[in-house]
Amino acid sequence: MKILVTGGVGYIGSHTVVELQKSGHEVVIVDNLSNSKIEVLNQIHQISGIKPECEIFNLDDRAKTFEFFKNHTDIQGIIHFAAFKAVGESVANPLKYYRNNLISLMNILEAMKEFGVPNLVFSSSCTVYGQPDELPVNEQAPIQKAMSPYGNTKQISEEIISDTILNGGIKAIALRYFNPIGAHESALIGELPLGVPNNLMPFITQTAIGIRAQLSVFGNDYNTPDGTAIRDYIHVVDLAKAHVIAVERMLHKKSKKDFEIFNLGTGNGFSVLEVINSFEKTCKAKLNYKIVGRRAGDVEQVYADTKFANDELGWKAIKSLDEMTLSAWNWEKALAKKIK
Ligand code: UD1
Repeated sequence: MKILVTGGVGYIGSHTVVELQKSGHEVVIVDNLSNSKIEVLNQIHQISGIKPECEIFNLDDRAKTFEFFKNHTDIQGIIHFAAFKAVGESVANPLKYYRNNLISLMNILEAMKEFGVPNLVFSSSCTVYGQPDELPVNEQAPIQKAMSPYGNTKQISEEIISDTILNGGIKAIALRYFNPIGAHESALIGELPLGVPNNLMPFITQTAIGIRAQLSVFGNDYNTPDGTAIRDYIHVVDLAKAHVIAVERMLHKKSKKDFEIFNLGTGNGFSVLEVINSFEKTCKAKLNYKIVGRRAGDVEQVYADTKFANDELGWKAIKSLDEMTLSAWNWEKALAKKIK
């Protein structure tokens, strides 16, 4: 089955392409390389033995998007990753986020209708829950007002999809990611943040390798056992596998509703200090960090109720926190070797 992976050169996209290929699917990627490097295609080739077809253009361009679908009439499903994801940048430049994330999605949905492509997997985020009243948080928890334009694009995207599928012809699954970290075991693909990383894991590995002088831990006065904020970190390969299952669920007509939503997490919450401890253990070194004030917009704690995904998708995240931090470290070391 031919699957379109938008943003397939990026972090989660590239890992998903590898898992799709492993499951026998043919993949075509569309990416604008705004936050990724084209060399990733060669790395995918090294892992899977197959270099995926890839077209470089912006999905916010409706004419190009339609042209692409006109030339690829055999696509059975779409996994739509292509989007901007930096929370801080979205506050500084909201329209950039609304334009890119929403118009791309609408172009894809219109093209799906026009060219009869029935199945969509959408990258959503646990950010839609804000600080939930009950933990672990399940898919029925109320959506809270988004803390950032980035978060709002995820909420609005889910609504756009939900309204669009009512007219029939399209099925969709939204996957709400918790905190994806780690890298492929080959250390050939991983997270490639351009510039200073916003997220915890790449900041840790870049500090350990000497690219950054010091990690700032944002707040130790939260109402948590060690005072630092708690998240549900999930290995990117576990996450990638869930995408294959989700798209196959639709291809094999196993969806129970036209629009289904699943949490993708491990169900375990870890604090920032626990992640640092795991990292220090796996990389056998002390990490230079200091506690600073809270970061604006951060929630205190969030972790997933994974029962629905486990039962319905027959999927479970299996990799431990130590496996996540070790694979992230191996990836950072492999990158450093390449640069030398
Ligand atoms: C954020 C978004 C999430 C988005 C993801 C991808 C929110 C609430 N979450 O996740 O929706 O999909 O980014 O970009 O908007 N931390 C430090 N020092 C650092 C970096 C992070 O202490 O240098 C802490 C944070 O305060 C947080 C934890 O580490 O407690 C994880 O942060 P991060 O990796 O940025 O992810 P989220 O903010 O959870």
